[in-house]
Amino acid sequence: MPTEPRTAWWNWLSEAWHAGGTGGLNWHLHAHQSRQRWQPTVDALANFLSPVNPQRPHLLLIGASAGWMMPGPWLQRFARIDAYDIDPLAGLWFRARHGPHLRQHGVELHYHRQDAMANLSVLLAQHPQACIWFDNLLGQLRYRIGDTEAAQARLRQLHHDLRGHPWGSVHDAYSGQVRPNPPPITSALTLPFVRTSAGVQHQQCAYAQGAWAQHLLAAIGAEGEWLDHLTADVLPENTPGQMIPWAFKPHHWHWLQAGWVRNEG
Ligand SMILES: C[S@@+](CC[C@H](N)C(=O)[O-])C[C@H]1O[C@@H](n2cnc3c(N)ncnc32)[C@H](O)[C@@H]1O
Repeated sequence: MPTEPRTAWWNWLSEAWHAGGTGGLNWHLHAHQSRQRWQPTVDALANFLSPVNPQRPHLLLIGASAGWMMPGPWLQRFARIDAYDIDPLAGLWFRARHGPHLRQHGVELHYHRQDAMANLSVLLAQHPQACIWFDNLLGQLRYRIGDTEAAQARLRQLHHDLRGHPWGSVHDAYSGQVRPNPPPITSALTLPFVRTSAGVQHQQCAYAQGAWAQHLLAAIGAEGEWLDHLTADVLPENTPGQMIPWAFKPHHWHWLQAGWVRNEG
């Protein structure tokens, strides 16, 4: 069929350029140019991961891209990392950024160009002893799946699929505009919480999910309509986590949710 090679080439180019709208060259250029503005968020994520010390030596890193926001000291805790991304160029960038450090610490790195969400059950069965980190892709699942209800159902199901694996995720919770002169991103804006059946517990206060969202938006001077990334139910009940603001663009911010499910014993 004469169209097949063109389709394969076109798919490659399209994934290299924008990786289904969630990565690709667009993402790499923006991440590179935004390093300074993103640094407080990168630091907050490193602080969150610092006490996460799973006993298992193998990590599946999903949505790894170039690891723009991933702290090297956390990666070096593992003996082997299998990283996954649909972006065909991500492996090159990731090796350039993290390869020397990982080699120096004797970490074996395998980078796969693969739709790891579509293949998740296969990957989990292949690596029953691995822990998993979803590296800021679950909040974009609604775009990749293209159907809000199906995306929400998939995200709610995830923690059942991951039973027996220590796992964690950082993902978009909400995103939108902030008013001019938003507050600085300091540790005071990094909000700890525990997931409950009704919403979250934060500093002795129980919030229903809607009230929690209002609290978060007020804390950073949100204005206009904000997008809900449908990730409120990703973490199972009783999971502790942190909400971390991210100045994705100067006036377009995200609230990231980070959590780790121990599942060890
Ligand atoms: C917002 S970026 C985050 C990248 C990375 N965590 C970082 O800090 O550079 C999301 C990444 O997830 C990747 N991605 C999206 N859906 C994916 C899937 N189903 N399987 C593997 N990677 C995926 C995208 O290509 C993109 O590189």
